[in-house]
Amino acid sequence: MNLSKIKIFWLLFLIKFAEANILYDVLKQRTGDPCENLYRHTCPLGVNRTISQELEKSINPILQKFDETQDAVRKTYSFLKIDNIQRIIESAIESMTFIKICEKFNLTKGVQYLENILEQTKKVMIEDIKNTNWLLKHNQTDIAIRVIEKIYLTFDSKNQEKVKFFFKDFENCFNSCLKDFPNSTEVCVTHGYECAAKHNFTWIDLIKTANGVNEHNKIINFGISFILYASQTQDEVLKVALIASLMAHELSHTMMNSITASNDNILSYFPPKAEDCITKQYESTCKTYKEIKCFMTFRQLEEAGADVIGMNLAYKLFKNIINQSASESILKKLNLSNIDQLFFLTYWSILCRPEKITTTEMKDHPANNIRINAVVQLPEFQKSFNCSADSTMMKSRTDQCLIYGKKSKFK
Ligand SMILES: *[C@@H]1O[C@H](CO)[C@@H](O)[C@H](O)[C@H]1NC(C)=O
Ligand SMILES: *[C@@H]1O[C@H](CO)[C@@H](O)[C@H](O)[C@H]1NC(C)=O
Ligand SMILES: *[C@@H]1O[C@H](CO)[C@@H](O)[C@H](O)[C@H]1NC(C)=O
Ligand SMILES: *[C@@H]1O[C@H](CO)[C@@H](O)[C@H](O)[C@H]1NC(C)=O
Ligand SMILES: *[C@@H]1O[C@H](CO)[C@@H](O)[C@H](O)[C@H]1NC(C)=O
Ligand SMILES: *[C@@H]1O[C@H](CO)[C@@H](O)[C@H](O)[C@H]1NC(C)=O
Ligand SMILES: *[C@@H]1O[C@H](CO)[C@@H](O)[C@H](O)[C@H]1NC(C)=O
Ligand SMILES: *[C@@H]1O[C@H](CO)[C@@H](O)[C@H](O)[C@H]1NC(C)=O
Repeated sequence: MNLSKIKIFWLLFLIKFAEANILYDVLKQRTGDPCENLYRHTCPLGVNRTISQELEKSINPILQKFDETQDAVRKTYSFLKIDNIQRIIESAIESMTFIKICEKFNLTKGVQYLENILEQTKKVMIEDIKNTNWLLKHNQTDIAIRVIEKIYLTFDSKNQEKVKFFFKDFENCFNSCLKDFPNSTEVCVTHGYECAAKHNFTWIDLIKTANGVNEHNKIINFGISFILYASQTQDEVLKVALIASLMAHELSHTMMNSITASNDNILSYFPPKAEDCITKQYESTCKTYKEIKCFMTFRQLEEAGADVIGMNLAYKLFKNIINQSASESILKKLNLSNIDQLFFLTYWSILCRPEKITTTEMKDHPANNIRINAVVQLPEFQKSFNCSADSTMMKSRTDQCLIYGKKSKFK
């Protein structure tokens, strides 16, 4: 093989590879002008394939094995029957099932990837927290840093270890007890539990939808499809492009105080003007991009706020991880001129829906198209697509809500 043949081989390989990626496929179906309607540019009405559908489809082989795997785990630990701790045993069994699934489907790489992205997201968030004047003024800097530092993913390797130790100690103590007291199964189960309880693991439940959740109490969980995607995607750019905005949003929930959030708000003070700022942007975007019905209500403030904090965070994260030269080949194939474009086109890409969007006043989340089009908040949007000031996206833009970081003006 001479050099040019090798080059052609790699080129073909790369094209073939990139085309097997759902995010890449979906980006090819974009249409119209992003400065007019970013959401419908990347997510045209009537599209056949959406990222969330494809992600959810991708886990079918896993779901097919789930019951079988869970039954096997249950059988292995069938001696654990004990009524008063049934809920803990159930959570241990489901957690162990998740671990077995990870082993069976080679998901370790994906788990490590998400852990790594979370750590990088936390770092960027903490840097912003340290530089935020209103946090300092209200004595909330330290508590915010402490809480963010402790956030972890339910399925991270540390928690997986705890689940394994839980079962190991349970079994060891149970067996040695039974050797000493052969007819005392129940007593020995209790003894086994006492040995195991110190491994205070967090329930790892398997999320089937293509979504993430901040469960507060310092815990974030992600749909297993993202772990699968991160395991199977080689390309760093496509990997971070799908995951950055979701991770940043989930982490941002912890830094968004609102009355609708659960009662574990970590901040006793959140600037009312920041809430107004968020609300104004979402109302404006709603007015501009209503497809059937569009509401921005007080109830949606928590999610909208996590989006606004999250978009700033996600942008920084993306730029920290990806540089122009690393993404050159993808940009070329997608006919994009800079990585900021790639960031905006992939921002919250799981929110694409092929039908017209409607929302009700009772929804906790703003409408999907509103959540994406509100990214016009970031000044880099206009720059990256060279949008004119009288484009629809730019006209829907209200004041920028920089809530965290050096440039935050809130008090
Ligand atoms: C969507 O899928 C259907 C059936 O699979 C096909 O007939 C149709 O042409 C597709 N539409 C687009 C826009 O690709
Ligand atoms: C997991 O990896 C092993 C070794 O690389 C491979 O043989 C096996 O087919 C993989 N399993 C799945 C479900 O991809
Ligand atoms: C912040 O802490 C300082 C010193 O510990 C105290 O003087 C000040 O009143 C506190 N401010 C608020 C808003 O709690
Ligand atoms: C255990 O119970 C069985 C019958 O229930 C009995 O035959 C046996 O002697 C008992 N063993 C001990 C060590 O108590
Ligand atoms: C287990 O973890 C929970 C939640 O983090 C905590 O409230 C509890 O005190 C812990 N229990 C032990 C025994 O460490
Ligand atoms: C860009 O990213 C690639 C891969 O992550 C890295 O090898 C390279 O050094 C980076 N270039 C610059 C200028 O940072
Ligand atoms: C690539 O994008 C430019 C505008 O950025 C456009 O003028 C050109 O037609 C596009 N080329 C292809 C092949 O789509
Ligand atoms: C941006 O748009 C303006 C017109 O609105 C045009 O004059 C200029 O050349 C464009 N810049 C780039 C880099 O495309």
